[in-house]
Amino acid sequence: MATANNPRKILVTSALPYANGSIHLGHLVEYIQTDIWVRFHKMQGHHVHYVCADDTHGTPIMLRAEKQGITPEALIANVHKEHAADFSEFLVQFDNYYSTNAPENKELSQSIYKKLKAAGKISTKTIEQFYDPVKNMFLPDRFIKGECPKCHAKDQYGDSCEVCGATYNPTELINAYSAVSGATPVRKETEHYFFKLSECEQFLRDWTRSGTLQGEAANKMGEWFENGLNDWDISRDAPYFGFEIPDAPGKYFYVWLDAPIGYMASFKKLCETIGLDFDEYWQKDSKTELYHFIGKDILYFHALFWPATLEYSEHRKPTQIFAHGFLTVNGEKMSKSRGTFITARSYLEHIKTPEYLRYYYAAKLNSTMEDIDLNLEDFVARVNSDLVGKYINIASRTAGFINKRFEGKLNPSANNPVIAEIKASAATLAESYSEREYSKALREIMRLADVANGFVAEKAPWVMAKQEGQDAALQQVCSDALEMFRLLTLYLKPVLPKLAGEIEQFLNIAPLTWDAVANSLLPQHAINAYEHLITRVDGKQVEAMTEANKENLQVTPTPAAHSQQRHAEHQQAASTDAVEAEYISIDDFTKVDLRIAKIVNAEHVEGAEKLLKLSLDIGEDKPRQVFAGIKSAYDPASLVGRLTVMVANLAPRKMKFGMSEGMVLAASDERGGPYILSPDSGAQAGMRVK
Ligand code: MSP
Ligand code: ZN
Repeated sequence: MATANNPRKILVTSALPYANGSIHLGHLVEYIQTDIWVRFHKMQGHHVHYVCADDTHGTPIMLRAEKQGITPEALIANVHKEHAADFSEFLVQFDNYYSTNAPENKELSQSIYKKLKAAGKISTKTIEQFYDPVKNMFLPDRFIKGECPKCHAKDQYGDSCEVCGATYNPTELINAYSAVSGATPVRKETEHYFFKLSECEQFLRDWTRSGTLQGEAANKMGEWFENGLNDWDISRDAPYFGFEIPDAPGKYFYVWLDAPIGYMASFKKLCETIGLDFDEYWQKDSKTELYHFIGKDILYFHALFWPATLEYSEHRKPTQIFAHGFLTVNGEKMSKSRGTFITARSYLEHIKTPEYLRYYYAAKLNSTMEDIDLNLEDFVARVNSDLVGKYINIASRTAGFINKRFEGKLNPSANNPVIAEIKASAATLAESYSEREYSKALREIMRLADVANGFVAEKAPWVMAKQEGQDAALQQVCSDALEMFRLLTLYLKPVLPKLAGEIEQFLNIAPLTWDAVANSLLPQHAINAYEHLITRVDGKQVEAMTEANKENLQVTPTPAAHSQQRHAEHQQAASTDAVEAEYISIDDFTKVDLRIAKIVNAEHVEGAEKLLKLSLDIGEDKPRQVFAGIKSAYDPASLVGRLTVMVANLAPRKMKFGMSEGMVLAASDERGGPYILSPDSGAQAGMRVK
């Protein structure tokens, strides 16, 4: 480990992912962004600690566990395992990955609350809330649905209408119903605890001006101040999965109260494990640095509630908050129907190499809150041309000569101007990394790789190798190229840590730290045999990935679609897929165009084990071709002439055997099947089923 002259003590966090869903490529923007920053600062020799945890509390998790017939504790333990594995495979290296449902967090949350109370910052107020009389629980806004008061669209959420975009209170909904039980909610009084944010305005205004926020974020704060700060409702009534509020039986901390305290709790656990002084990092006048990486959707919580909570509980405040934008895929919001709502796991299964995504994100990321786009075609092109074509190419074109002709021994030149040029970029690259201008850093690194490739091309070692008396020159050119490769590897190491590790092995050198820029590969240094380092990514892998992520029926909105609203104040922070399929609205149902279809032809498909190819007449000009997995139960001849039911507006799907232009419905379970459906007599091909 390098030792910086003045090693800084730095604590870094990424937002705590909800424990009610899988990690997806959107999340990974943040964890990869943070991890690169942490690795860079560790390479600089600073004392950096990177902590995170699962955000485990709240109504959605409680209800989901209930639905699965397990305890919330069991649910969050499963998810914790899954999340930890995803992060580790993407090389996101936390020093501790914890849970908000931990004893340290309970203790810290309660003691912070007591301090806020002692400082006069807690009040209580009786409010009226919707209550589910069947389920016997108060309903967060997201769990109330009904008719939009503005446009009268049915089945809208309690806080906003997806059809006309109106926002309102759940009390304004027409014919409201509980998304949990379907019952009509009643209004019921209850006492809630509030954090008096309205009294913190002056402090927050000062804090905002102290350079802790990006320009855009500070502007956003300005808007919030304009609108006036409301007191923050920090309690929820039982039943609730969370921590009880001291001296308030039946009242629990709202999940967003204990979530950021989870940063402290995770760090506290780390302190116990490796022997750090917790207070040195969190006391009011701490000299250490604290950085939170977050998405722009949770700025309100981190830039208002969190510093105020810290201030009035006698703790230090964040040094800086780094907010990033949202991920789009192919220029649009991630979408389940387009197959672009891609989980971390699915990426690993199809593309395999996590460092390609790390590289691509880094090539797109900067220090602003702008959204970043993952263009899948560009992803393939960029990874192949930059990493394989430019970077790895330098070694693959030169290492073989050193291995074969010189027993792996190097003999670099005393001063090569290209090496000097590459070394000279160290300071600006360091600045780019530290300012989170990764795209700028990678542009410069690839420029340097071009220069290095230019050097190799000009010297053409493959020509020298065939000429008499060129041995010394050949060895020197290849040695210099490998020194260039070493330097580029060092620069890329925060982004590509695993590959860099493999290259350190190959070059037979100690783990690269930033100050190794000043070193050089020495004469007589022996490298190891060059082995193939990376493979090109194939567009087909990407296609297979989006295919695998396609969901044909999109009856529930995706969590991504609600990422902004779902964090809104006074509302349960919940990924909306927590309410999945308890009920769908009639509008959801009518999205599915079901038609009576006449089977005009049915045949076996060469090479398909389960499929029959059907031609279905639904009153259109020409019959639809549909592949149906019913071969095990039907002789094709017996089907011809029958009527059945098909989904007519399913996006056409390219299958191995041709296009499938719809789907035939059939019943099955362990008792048998598939059994296709038949309408009652009188039904005609093309009739709509509704
Ligand atoms: N549990 C809260 C955070 C509590 S922090 C004390 C939460 N969880 S989350 O799972 O919804 O999101 C975790 C982080 O991932 C957030 O910073 C969020 O902005 C980020 N992202 C989630 N989806 C994203 C994209 N599609 N694109 C970029 N970042 C995204 O919020
Ligand atoms: Zn509306």
